[in-house]
Amino acid sequence: MIVAATIAEARDAIAKARAEGARVAFVPTMGALHSGHISLVERARTRADFCVMSIFVNPLQFAPTEDLSKYPRPTEQDERMSIDAGVDLLFRPDVSEMYPPGRTITVTAGDLGNDWEGKSRPGHFDGVLTVVAKLFNIVQPDITVFGRKDLQQAALVQALIHDLDMPIELVLSPIVREADGLALSSRNRYLSPEDRQRATILSKSLAVAQLAFAAGERSVSALETVANRAFSSERDVRKDYLAVVDPRTFTRPESAEADNAIIVAARVGTTRLIDNMLLGANDQD
Ligand code: PAJ
Repeated sequence: MIVAATIAEARDAIAKARAEGARVAFVPTMGALHSGHISLVERARTRADFCVMSIFVNPLQFAPTEDLSKYPRPTEQDERMSIDAGVDLLFRPDVSEMYPPGRTITVTAGDLGNDWEGKSRPGHFDGVLTVVAKLFNIVQPDITVFGRKDLQQAALVQALIHDLDMPIELVLSPIVREADGLALSSRNRYLSPEDRQRATILSKSLAVAQLAFAAGERSVSALETVANRAFSSERDVRKDYLAVVDPRTFTRPESAEADNAIIVAARVGTTRLIDNMLLGANDQD
């Protein structure tokens, strides 16, 4: 595996792979890698010859009150996991490489970024889209693989690609979960043992809505009500939002359909977690 800390080194390694005719896949991450990230690499490797992963904790997408400085950075472990996963090029720039002084351009999310995560975390998606646009321009991949875990982010990246005419195919990958349903996240390591138990309420309440949908319920507010009721059985978890949405527009539909998603965000202790499921049960693809 090649490790590149500069844009020039990354471009050079990618140019060499391209000269040999390789199709290039790209998996952007913030590191603190877990099996969710690795599943994206596995998917990328089935679709391309040369797999690039980036690890960059992007300051633009963290609010001043958020966890930028304490975001985990297990550098050596990440490197080992990337090698084991079959990453060909690990791009690991520092902040001064990505944001030298004098930058002025920011990508803005627009309406698709106004609600849900966008409302709870003002400016977050502008920061995500700005770094993703930069990374896409550096790597210039044929395909990029994102997780369904961050569903609104995935919809916004699809819009970025479409609206800015980037010749990149976006592949979405299913959510990797713990045995008890908790979606893997780099932030799970902040949870105390008690909070780790409590955190299962996110996936449990979404699964209740999925069951109700499978039993024929098509009213959006009824589905939200059953999930909310399940959620409220866990008193120590503070819900931020829970809603049925169309996963492309992030608006609430008139009546629920199989490809709609139910999304949730909540604070467990001091840790903010998000999760989602497709109502039509099979969110494995
Ligand atoms: P990060 O949170 O590190 O996630 C990187 C990728 O891994 C995202 O596409 C995310 O959806 C995916 N992912 C995380 N947990 C997952 C899980 N349990 N199952 C499947 N996929 C999972 O998302 C970001 O970083 C950043 O915003 C980034 C896009 C890198 C821009 O800075």
